[in-house]
Amino acid sequence: MGNLVLGIETSCDDTSVALVDIQGNVATIETVSQYEIHSEFGGVYPELASRAHLEAILPVIEKVMAKAEVTPIDLRAIGVTRGPGLMGSLLVGLSTAQALGMAWNIPTYGVNHLRGHIRSVDLEEKRLAYPALVLLVSGGHTLLAYLEDQHSYKLLGITRDDSVGECYDKVARTLGLGMPGGPAIDRMAVAGTAHIKFPRPMIKSGYEFSFSGLKSSVARYVETHAEFDVNDVAAAFVDACLDILSTKVLRGINELKPATLAVVGGVAASPQVRACMQNITEKSGVTLCLPPQKWATDNAAMIAMATWDYIEQGIEADLEPKPNLKLGDA
Ligand code: KG4
Ligand code: ZN
Repeated sequence: MGNLVLGIETSCDDTSVALVDIQGNVATIETVSQYEIHSEFGGVYPELASRAHLEAILPVIEKVMAKAEVTPIDLRAIGVTRGPGLMGSLLVGLSTAQALGMAWNIPTYGVNHLRGHIRSVDLEEKRLAYPALVLLVSGGHTLLAYLEDQHSYKLLGITRDDSVGECYDKVARTLGLGMPGGPAIDRMAVAGTAHIKFPRPMIKSGYEFSFSGLKSSVARYVETHAEFDVNDVAAAFVDACLDILSTKVLRGINELKPATLAVVGGVAASPQVRACMQNITEKSGVTLCLPPQKWATDNAAMIAMATWDYIEQGIEADLEPKPNLKLGDA
């Protein structure tokens, strides 16, 4: 039996394939971004996304296998994202994985993308320890969860409207910074000062989030201040986001006393978010687990990593696409 998992991720706009062993060592990874295709639409265009996945997927798999000098005999399993995500995009990954699994006679697991993000912290080095508080901040999701052990996923709160990543992207557009918005906002924010006080919706209590009011407030500010300074607006926006995220995380740390805090998802690539979480955890004696920065955004290595849990825990392989899969679902 082989000792590598072939991970496949096609839930949104990246076609990503990786080979990962049980320790989280990434033998190879290739990711084809559809950034150019969608940039003129200001968001991901579902039909174009699935077509681009279809064109990319087999050459990417071939390239990854060739680069690592791996043949099907070296594989323990295939793990492919089955949700949440765009139906057409998920189907490309799932049907390809299923066909290869049958042809190669290898078990093939449908994997929860959100669990993939959580396991991204164990890539290259084992970091996650239980009980863990998890902050997942991506383009599609924003949530806080409490993981008592590797089998339990207790959702503490989600966003009522926009995700943090979506908010970064929309504010970037308002400021004329283009896509992808997150890194552009990061760059502007470090050069500015946060003297504008934007609102911090729902900060006072609980674990739920809301970001649409903050986003509209930035848009209103820009409309009403002809001479606004892009760097200062970006800095004030980031300041508000960090205030909201850190307040909720600290609330979770104080109430639940986790051993570790895992901060995952595309927005966890932000240097400001990483520094802010470092600061909080140092003060509260909790160990911070971050994914290597390059694997915070969507990638197949995290899906392969999560597949090892499915194998070890004997979770039944389910290849049905689930665009609305929840954190608690396998
Ligand atoms: O996890 P991800 O790749 O996709 C989803 O599962 O949604 O997250 C994408 C989001 C985008 O909204 C993007 O703007 C944000 O992550 N992002 C960042 C950074 N890199 C990506 N946000 C802030 N700073 C970054 N460096
Ligand atoms: Zn994601």
